[in-house]
Amino acid sequence: MNFDRLSAPDAAPNENVVAIRNLVKVHAAGSATQVRALAGISLDIARGAHVAVVGESGSGKTTLMHLLGALDRPTSGSVVVDGVDIGRASRAELKALRAARIGFVFQGFNLIASLDALENVMLPARYARVPADRARERARRLLADVGLADRMHHRPAQLSGGQQQRVAIARALVNEPALVLADEPTGELDRRSSETVLGLLEGIQRADGHTLVVVTHSEAVWKRAQRVIRIADGMLVA
Ligand SMILES: Nc1ncnc2c1ncn2[C@@H]1O[C@H](COP(=O)(O)OP(=O)(O)OP(=O)(O)O)[C@@H](O)[C@H]1O
Ligand SMILES: [Mg+2]
Repeated sequence: MNFDRLSAPDAAPNENVVAIRNLVKVHAAGSATQVRALAGISLDIARGAHVAVVGESGSGKTTLMHLLGALDRPTSGSVVVDGVDIGRASRAELKALRAARIGFVFQGFNLIASLDALENVMLPARYARVPADRARERARRLLADVGLADRMHHRPAQLSGGQQQRVAIARALVNEPALVLADEPTGELDRRSSETVLGLLEGIQRADGHTLVVVTHSEAVWKRAQRVIRIADGMLVA
């Protein structure tokens, strides 16, 4: 047992890593393309949980993930992630939260085209001021874990969709973040690669204190979660 962790303030077993109250998000407010993507959601996510978010296309899943990932701010209501109020925190606070505490697997991967796989995976570690040697070592290990040991120096355009997705997953895990947010992480993957990637994500989650939130259309994926959150038209469905 690691006694250091017992006294750490963020190791309280019952603490919620996410607290959402009456969350509303209106995209493009005031314009002709205005959309009320989230229409009043309240939700807590316990630290260490493995949660799946499901719902039809356009129901608001990615919008919710961007708010949890401190990439966007609420229109009204509140989102508190790891003690940080996303609507009120300064840009610098949001940036620090993203760099140190959150790993994000984007629905569209969002890899940097001019960097190779290894450099893409290293990037969040460098943002978090991990020395280059250590960042490179971690990145190599993660790329090997997702089966890309022989693709370290390929740029995204030189990789298949599924390979890019695995680079994006390695990148999200490089800082061993407290909260891993994955938006359709297996959408481009065959069954074997899906298993590998889910195993990696769950490995991080099972380690003390790590929380995993996965958006998915796949029954094979959401069945592995401890809790399934269903969204329809920007609202939670019981
Ligand atoms: N920047 C934007 N401006 C205007 N409307 C937006 C914007 N982003 C998303 N929307 C709209 O908000 C709604 C929710 O979108 P969101 O991307 O959250 O859906 P989703 O559940 O992730 O769908 P999918 O399963 O297709 O990824 C959709 O109707 C979408 O058209
Ligand atoms: Mg989406």
